[in-house]
Amino acid sequence: MSEPVRVGVVGLGMMGGTHLRVLRSLAGVDVVAVADVVPSALVGAGPATTYDDPLMLVRDADVDAVLVASSDATHAELVLACLDRGLPVLCEKPLTTSVEDTLAILAAESARGRRLVQVGFMRRFDPAFAAVHDAVRAGTVSAPAVIHTVHRNPVSSYAFTPSVLVANSASHDVDLVRWITGDEIAVVSATVAPAPDARFASVLLRLTTSSGVLASTELTYGPGCAYDVRCEVVGRTGSVATPPDGNGVDGAWVHRFDEAYRRQDAAWVASVHGDPVGAGVMDGLANALVLAGAERSLVTGQPVTLEPPPRP
Ligand SMILES: NC(=O)c1ccc[n+]([C@@H]2O[C@H](COP(=O)([O-])OP(=O)(O)OC[C@H]3O[C@@H](n4cnc5c(N)ncnc54)[C@H](O)[C@@H]3O)[C@@H](O)[C@H]2O)c1
Repeated sequence: MSEPVRVGVVGLGMMGGTHLRVLRSLAGVDVVAVADVVPSALVGAGPATTYDDPLMLVRDADVDAVLVASSDATHAELVLACLDRGLPVLCEKPLTTSVEDTLAILAAESARGRRLVQVGFMRRFDPAFAAVHDAVRAGTVSAPAVIHTVHRNPVSSYAFTPSVLVANSASHDVDLVRWITGDEIAVVSATVAPAPDARFASVLLRLTTSSGVLASTELTYGPGCAYDVRCEVVGRTGSVATPPDGNGVDGAWVHRFDEAYRRQDAAWVASVHGDPVGAGVMDGLANALVLAGAERSLVTGQPVTLEPPPRP
């Protein structure tokens, strides 16, 4: 029997706690170290070596692979530190918060000569979204023409402004459109709906892919929202959609993707000695370019035409 993969987990908030539970439930994994800059987050996270400096975890010789689940702005530095040591890393989405940081990661991974970074676009591992993807890719729903996605968040999740909805929430939807179509996004526009107060925000993203598929993404946050994520694809031979979610407004949203997190983390651990099977740095880069374009569109009110992502 092969040795267990010794994993370090960075960031023990809501998502880090979820990954910790998942990893500890998997065979062939040993969570040997955890890190968080807030020491109280480490209480009860054992048995594992605890660090309040995440870079010390990355340098721990007992760590074979790192799962990064800290705040968005910390991802780039941590992923680059992992690449410096040649460690496989599963980084929560978004990979970084800027195109420049993503390019730096792309260069560092290319210099290592193999794929080491997986991005946590876990909807690719969700059975309902995977069924939509597979129906399109297998041609059951052929010649996809229009994709609709919905991403609604209850106020019990995060405090979203239109800009945060675009910079953070939309990354999943953009990844879905790219993954389902196999296309890059060529044009993006973002429009904000009227909001009566700070506890409501709604943005409509419109995307056109390189082969002309049209996509709309509704991103909404508000007291009347249940957590609700959906996707429908309409093509020449019919349509395919995810089933209704049925989550309440009470915060049960976090469990909607339990199975996806389990499948994602299991697939990542199984792949640490080869290529990651999920989204990689190029997906993170393409995503960052689309989100940067959407941010520009929010400011200018105009659609933004995107250059294809640079290849390494
Ligand atoms: N894939 C998904 O479905 C999904 C859902 C929610 C959030 N996320 C992403 O997961 C990440 C974490 O989100 P969350 O909701 O758990 O946030 P959170 O605020 O609950 O937790 C973040 C944790 O990271 C810690 N932290 C901050 N800076 C750090 C650093 N430099 N080193 C180590 N720890 C640090 C914080 O102290 C906190 O404990 C974010 O990138 C977020 O966008 C993904």
